[in-house]
Amino acid sequence: MIREARAAHAVRVHLRPATSSDLDLLERLLVEAFNWTGETRVTLAEVRTDPQHAHHLRGWRRSTDLGVVAEAPSGEPVGAAWARVVPVGEAGYGYVSEDVPELGMAVLSPYRGQGVGRALLDTCVDALRGAGRRAVSLSVEDGNETARRLYESRGFVRAGRVGGSDTLLLRL
Ligand SMILES: CC(C)(COP(=O)(O)OP(=O)(O)OC[C@H]1O[C@@H](n2cnc3c(N)ncnc32)[C@H](O)[C@@H]1OP(=O)(O)O)[C@@H](O)C(=O)NCCC(=O)NCCS
Repeated sequence: MIREARAAHAVRVHLRPATSSDLDLLERLLVEAFNWTGETRVTLAEVRTDPQHAHHLRGWRRSTDLGVVAEAPSGEPVGAAWARVVPVGEAGYGYVSEDVPELGMAVLSPYRGQGVGRALLDTCVDALRGAGRRAVSLSVEDGNETARRLYESRGFVRAGRVGGSDTLLLRL
């Protein structure tokens, strides 16, 4: 899964598997994903401790967790995509079933719009397929057209609705 990805427009990033040492990074990126509007709606402390949010990454990396990190040539992490199987007791936004992992992703703001997200998504989906997964789901909030366009361009289709968000599903 380690490879170089030529981003669509400019930046060249190195993609590598996410490890247990990436928990802090993924937590920061999960905050970015929640706060995609630019407004601080969820804090790092809430991502770490609030039961409503903490289940997304608690105990990372479990044997069934899987993720990809994008690094700039300097080695600085600039984004990641990750997927986790969610038990029914923790079902929330993006949940479809216990055998469908949920995907989360974010790219740091200065690196957006340069193909990094697409490279991360494609690589994470390939890895899920390689791991024998039959489908992957995610939640996209109304108004997040950048993310929605990316997912729909990769074949995700609407499979449900929770609050102001659609649950999208990609069959692998
Ligand atoms: C969503 C996100 C991960 C996409 O990553 P990215 O690196 O910016 O995306 P890419 O540059 O690879 O672009 C992929 C596609 O996204 C869409 N896109 C990217 N930037 C866009 C913009 N400014 N306006 C509209 N669509 C855009 C396009 O469909 C694009 O495909 P194209 O290049 O063929 O036109 C990133 O914007 C991000 O981190 N956003 C904040 C966090 C977030 O919303 N996470 C997802 C929560 S569901």
